[in-house]
Amino acid sequence: MTPDEFREAAHELVDWIADYRLRVPELPVQAQVKPGEVAAQLTASAPTEPEGFGAVLGDLDRIVVPGITQMQHPRYFGWFPSNATLSSVLGDIATSGLGALGITWQSAPALTEVEEVVVEWLRDLTGLPASWRGAIHDTASTACLVALLAARERTTGYSESRGGLQAEDAPLTVYTTEQAHSSVAKAVALAGFGTDNLRLVGTDPWTRAMSPAALAEAVAADVAAGRRPAAVVASVGTTGTTAMDPLAEIVPIAKAHGMWVHVDAAMAGSALLLPEMRWMVDGVEGADSLSWNPHKWMGTVLDCALLYVADPEHLVRVMSTNPSYLRSTVDGEVTQYKDWGIPLGRRFRALKLWFQLRLDGVQAIQDRLRRDLANARWLEQEAEATPEWRVLAPVTLQTVCLRHEPAHLTDGAELDAHTLKWVDAVNASGAALITPSLLDGRWSVRVSVGAEPTERSDVAAVWKVMRATAEER
Ligand SMILES: Cc1ncc(COP(=O)(O)O)c(C=O)c1O
Repeated sequence: MTPDEFREAAHELVDWIADYRLRVPELPVQAQVKPGEVAAQLTASAPTEPEGFGAVLGDLDRIVVPGITQMQHPRYFGWFPSNATLSSVLGDIATSGLGALGITWQSAPALTEVEEVVVEWLRDLTGLPASWRGAIHDTASTACLVALLAARERTTGYSESRGGLQAEDAPLTVYTTEQAHSSVAKAVALAGFGTDNLRLVGTDPWTRAMSPAALAEAVAADVAAGRRPAAVVASVGTTGTTAMDPLAEIVPIAKAHGMWVHVDAAMAGSALLLPEMRWMVDGVEGADSLSWNPHKWMGTVLDCALLYVADPEHLVRVMSTNPSYLRSTVDGEVTQYKDWGIPLGRRFRALKLWFQLRLDGVQAIQDRLRRDLANARWLEQEAEATPEWRVLAPVTLQTVCLRHEPAHLTDGAELDAHTLKWVDAVNASGAALITPSLLDGRWSVRVSVGAEPTERSDVAAVWKVMRATAEER
């Protein structure tokens, strides 16, 4: 494709994207396709001769749009918001157009330096300690793995350069709660700690936050048994109920045993842009790392996760490699992000953050987050005031966990069947998307407010649909 052919097709594509965003509210929120239906509409092999752009665009409309759940829909209340603000989409297009390759500072100096500046902007905007430094990763899952690798190496005095974990004389243990995201257990397994050495510390029955007393007890038991406590992964904003583990009490326990504290704030990190929400991370200055996803609520198009560390030198020592073909005359003067994480080749992800922050401005993002917090409180109050509905967890952020509990359903299994039936009916109708979720062993529903176009009227609409569907059954 020549630049001129690209120009023509790209104009069409941009028009198509704008039109798509305008018509999203008319589409069913949940994808209505059956398994295999999308693949069945594609040709079995790649075309030998070029096709026209019109044919490709036509298939986007015909096959792809019905084949996705509409995260940019005003009545999307599923999982967590996955906003893709158009300002950040522009940055993503620029990234692809530039085709820069970040393998060293030299390979794309602007890729490194825009990232350094934007990551520092966001550190400042979220009130994290001034001495912390960060980098952009693809996801919070990767960030957690990187943090646990750094924890492992600090505890073992760089075992990676000797016999690795296999040569250690005592098992290393990691602590989190059963409310933590599944990516934590995955990172523990992948970093070689072994699932047997992951402790799920008890939580408060209402807030679902980690109990510091239970943590201290679990650590003491492991020490007494000759094991070596290595890390705590504290969740600030759990996936299930947005529970907040109390860092101010967790950090001193961890410090007393030389443990690494990683804070997983994948969802809640966006709220740190609001000074009034910084209570969530009281005590964070004593932690070692924190990650959060601008690609969730803040609205930077996937993928964009930030990982900040208190001791970047340690991280670089764990992650660095220095093959001869990557050496340059500026080594030592510049940041080499290849030494801050796992991949060598890095995408120019900072551009989408840079575009979004410059084109939308921080104030508009803050206003939107405050709108969503207020909308979640409104729904909580509505549910609390409605007979046979129960709010099941504190609404600390923008997610409301609830259940319809009709008086005649006294049996737990029947209540579960009722919940799954009405939630499936709401989702199948395409009117809105909410997520069924197990809480304390019983099915409940999470209504996660925070899609970019969601206004109070949309929250009122989903509440009306939920009531009509649940109460008629
Ligand atoms: C608390 C928490 N941590 C981690 C993740 C994983 O995020 P990612 O998809 O960026 O790996 C999620 C995803 O929703 C999450 O809610």
